[in-house]
Amino acid sequence: MAKRTLEDLARQYNSSVSTNGPRGPMGGGPGGPRGRGGHMGGKPKDTKKVVSRLFSYISAYKLRLLVVLIFMLLNTVCSLAGSYMLRPIMNNYIAAGRLEGFLYALLVLAGVYLCGVCAAYIQARLMLGISQNAVERIRNDLFNKLQKLPIRFYDTENNGDIMSRFTNDIDNIDMMINNSIVSVISGTISLVGTFAMMVSMNIWLTLITVAFIPIFALGGQVIGKFSRRYNTAQQAALGAVNGYIEETVSGQKVIKVFNHEETCVEEFNLLNGDLREKQMKSQFYGGIMGPVMGNTSQLSYALTAGIGGILVAMGWFDIGGLTVFVNYSKQFSMPINQISMQMTTIFSALAGAERVFNILDREEEEPDAIDAVDPEKIMGDVRLDHVTFGYNPDKVILKDISLYAKPGQKIAFVGSTGAGKTTVTNLLNRFYDIQDGTITIDGMNIRDIKRVTLRKNIAMVLQDTHLFTGTVMENIRYGRLDATDEEVIQAAKTASAHGFITRLENGYDTMLEGDGANLSQGQRQLLNIARAALSKAPILVLDEATSSVDTRTERLIEQGMDALMKNRTTFVIAHRLSTVRNADAIMVLEQGEIIERGNHDQLLELKGRYYELYTGKKELD
Ligand SMILES: Nc1ncnc2c1ncn2[C@@H]1O[C@H](COP(=O)(O)OP(=O)(O)OP(=O)(O)O)[C@@H](O)[C@H]1O
Ligand SMILES: [Mg+2]
Repeated sequence: MAKRTLEDLARQYNSSVSTNGPRGPMGGGPGGPRGRGGHMGGKPKDTKKVVSRLFSYISAYKLRLLVVLIFMLLNTVCSLAGSYMLRPIMNNYIAAGRLEGFLYALLVLAGVYLCGVCAAYIQARLMLGISQNAVERIRNDLFNKLQKLPIRFYDTENNGDIMSRFTNDIDNIDMMINNSIVSVISGTISLVGTFAMMVSMNIWLTLITVAFIPIFALGGQVIGKFSRRYNTAQQAALGAVNGYIEETVSGQKVIKVFNHEETCVEEFNLLNGDLREKQMKSQFYGGIMGPVMGNTSQLSYALTAGIGGILVAMGWFDIGGLTVFVNYSKQFSMPINQISMQMTTIFSALAGAERVFNILDREEEEPDAIDAVDPEKIMGDVRLDHVTFGYNPDKVILKDISLYAKPGQKIAFVGSTGAGKTTVTNLLNRFYDIQDGTITIDGMNIRDIKRVTLRKNIAMVLQDTHLFTGTVMENIRYGRLDATDEEVIQAAKTASAHGFITRLENGYDTMLEGDGANLSQGQRQLLNIARAALSKAPILVLDEATSSVDTRTERLIEQGMDALMKNRTTFVIAHRLSTVRNADAIMVLEQGEIIERGNHDQLLELKGRYYELYTGKKELD
């Protein structure tokens, strides 16, 4: 591979590879709000819609929200009142040099502040409960949805991207509900309250404070603009770094096989350097927001104190009042700061929510027809009648396929790679629906059979094996959950898996992890076959089920399966043609068409494509 430049890498890893978000060290931190995700923050496309939909998740807690609001108000009132109490304390005790009752006044002051702290605590606890409940429901909805989406969704979406909805996007939503919204609302209450108090105390001094608002707003906007810009850039760089790491971790074997370690390090350094640069800028602009605003507010503070001092000296204002006022003027700038800082987080969380809702809105597997039938027993008579199909409707993959499998027959599909063999099996259990023609089982169109029933009656060993985290026993039992241990063992014997399982450290109780990483490829296949053998489905599909198994074991499986297949309609796909010799009918697929059909002997006789595949010779006429 030619060396890729930073631009290539950034583009490729940001758009195509998962942007599984970083967690922990990158999150929060000083320097203002940042989305935690590796996914680009950005803004939602339809803010109003996202907000109202998010609200539907917390609207169930209306009463609690009301209580939160009340405690928020109480907290602000306590803080304002606490500050205000300095006025009589200053005027009546400190300025007057009177100590009598001073302690009492201080105690009351402490009481008010304590009240505020309690209110803040209760409000935070309640809000935490609301946000966690809401987030739990969103996660549930998303997971439920994933179970209902068609295979097409998984065939076209990037896994990492789906994962990042669960991690970053939902994390950001959580942060927003729990943190940012509270900050913005309590900030607004405090802003209004402080302003009202200031106006009531001294209109002229209030005007000085208010005069600084445009400066705050402008400063916040300019710095905020840079901050957001670099924040987005930083998120993108983070996404690229994460994508790169993920790929090198999962592809480590290939990297080693082709000696790509050094190139990888070099490429990673490029991405990492880029991330450092963007992160520095982003954190710089996020970080200067506080000091700039702080100093501006000091200026307003000094001016208020100076002019207020003159007013006091002239006898137009009391010293206690001034103490309180300068306090308020300082408090006044804080919420402005707070609100502007939370906006970035809120927008990136809303964008995340939009991505989550986007999946929730995806079209599900077409629901069963209202009059869909639920036959009690299926015999396994399968007919494909002029079936035409393409994953993409304008690119036909299977052309005019017709075939008939009587109950108990064994039908084989052979043909070159990419001919469409797996595709045929994808149609039988309705992973995909056909565009033209009909598929019937026992004379019923498969579209009219309940999906659950259909799938219950078709046992499949898929071309890509998959094992779940759990014991060997549990993994085989996946084929039929009510099977007894004896039945599981019997199925394992049928699949010739019993021998190797008993040699495993804990036999059937051995834990399998990471898709059965501790097993050989062939052993994984045997477990998948055992799973299908356990099922009592009348239709069995074996897609390259024994491709990684040695020929002797394959023979044994065949013998074991023969008994099993006796009353089942079986579809077998195999490149190793010796395994399909005894099939009742062999279909030779080429570029989506059945070009030859018949049993082994008939096809050899034909001296066509099958002969060529079987003998490795091209018959010259
Ligand atoms: N999910 C998909 N979306 C779009 N096209 C697909 C999809 N799966 C397969 N195809 C295309 O359909 C064609 C047939 O693929 P299929 O998997 O049926 O081949 P196959 O005969 O099973 O090959 P193999 O022997 O390699 O397993 C191929 O050209 C492939 O590119
Ligand atoms: Mg295939």
